[in-house]
Amino acid sequence: MQRIEENPATFPDEKKTRSIMAQTVSRRHLLRGALLAGAALPFARIQHTINAWRAEEFGPIPAPGKTPYIRLGSNENPYGPSPKARKALADAIDAGNRYPGQGLSDLRQAIAEYESLTPEQILITAGSSELLGIAGLMAGTQGGRIIASHPTFPFLMRYASQFSAEWIKVPVTEDHQYNLVGITKEVNDKTRLVFLCNPNNPTGAELPRSILDPYCKLVSEQTMVYVDEAYIEFADGGVRASLASLTRDNPNIIIGRTFSKIYGMAGLRIGYAIAHPDTIDQFERYSCGANMTPSVTSLAAARASLGDDSFIAHCLEMNQETKDMVYAKFQQWGIEYIPSSTNFVFFRTSRFGSANVVQAMQEKYILIRDYGDVPGWARVSMGTVAEIQSFLDALEGMLM
Ligand SMILES: Cc1ncc(COP(=O)(O)O)c(C=O)c1O
Repeated sequence: MQRIEENPATFPDEKKTRSIMAQTVSRRHLLRGALLAGAALPFARIQHTINAWRAEEFGPIPAPGKTPYIRLGSNENPYGPSPKARKALADAIDAGNRYPGQGLSDLRQAIAEYESLTPEQILITAGSSELLGIAGLMAGTQGGRIIASHPTFPFLMRYASQFSAEWIKVPVTEDHQYNLVGITKEVNDKTRLVFLCNPNNPTGAELPRSILDPYCKLVSEQTMVYVDEAYIEFADGGVRASLASLTRDNPNIIIGRTFSKIYGMAGLRIGYAIAHPDTIDQFERYSCGANMTPSVTSLAAARASLGDDSFIAHCLEMNQETKDMVYAKFQQWGIEYIPSSTNFVFFRTSRFGSANVVQAMQEKYILIRDYGDVPGWARVSMGTVAEIQSFLDALEGMLM
C-alpha cells in the first residue's frame, strides 16, 4: 500500500489547499453568520424514512430458546462496561428518582479535566448519535452543502439531508484514504460543514494528526469541520491523536466522542462534543432534550470509566489480538483487507464468489455488516477471541 505522505491527494500542503479554496470560495462562512442565519425549520421537506436507526440494523432478535447471535456487526466492545462502570451503575440506581443535573455537571467537569479544556467546551449527549443529529440539524437547516468522504459514517449527512442539505460524497483514494484535495475542491460558498471521521468507519483507516491538524485549521477558515473521533482511542497514539485542543480558539471545529466504543457502553448512551464555548452554546440551542438526555445511571458509569487506563489497556490488547487473528487468516486465504486503526476490519468479499457473506453468516448466527453503496466489501467488528474464532471457522467454509 502507498504511504500516506506519498499520496498527493491525502497530503495537501498549505499553499495548495489555499489556492483551491481561493478558486471555490468567494466569501467567508464563519460560524456566527453561517449558523445564526435562517434557522427556520423546513418541516415540509422532512422525509421520515431515513431518519432514525432501525432496530433491525443491529440484527435480528433471536426467538426464545434459539441460539444467540454473535454480534460482530455494530462495532460494540465485548468487554464492557468496565468493572468500575458496573459498580457505579449499581450505586447510582438509588438516585434514579432525581433529574441528572449534578451528574451532568460532574461528568462535564471530569471530561474537561481529562481533555485539559474548560467545562464550557463540553456538551454531554445520549451517545454521539445525538450530537451528530444536533450538528446535522444545524447545518441541514441552513441549506447548502455538507462535504463528506465516501464511504464514511453517514448518520449526520442522512439526517441533514432530511432538511435542506445537499450531501456531497468525495470517494476515498485508491489506498482507502481521505482525498483531502478532492474534499477541498468541493468547499465553496454554499458549504455548511465538512465531515471527517478519524479513524474512519467503515474503512478503519486513520489519518495522522500531523496531516489533519493543519488541514482542519485551514478548511475551518471557510466552513465548520466536524471530526468524528468515535474510535480515536484505538488509533495510533490514542487520544493524543485527537484534534480536541484546536477547539480552544477555533469556533469552527467540532469533535465528537463516545463512551460506546473503547468504554464498552453502547447500550448506556453517553457521548460528548468538544468545541469552542460559543459553538457549544449553539449546540445547546439546537438540542431537543433540554441538555439532559443522559440518565443518572449512565452518567455515573461514564464518570467511573473515564480514563480507566487498565480497562482501556485490556480492551486494546484484546482488540489487537483478535485483529491479528483476522489479519493472519485473511493473508493466508488471500482476502484483501484494510489495516485498521479501530475495532473492526473492512474486507473484500471477492473470495466468496457471488455468495452474500453477510447473509450466509447470519444463517450461522453471526452478524457482520455490509454497505449497500460499497458493493464487494463487508465489515467485521472485533468480538472476543472465541467469537472471532467462530467467525473465521464459518468464513473458511465459505471460501471459493
Ligand atoms: C464513527 C461513528 N460515530 C458515531 C457513532 C455513534 O455511536 P454512539 O451514538 O453510540 O456514540 C458510531 C457508531 O457506530 C460510529 O461508528
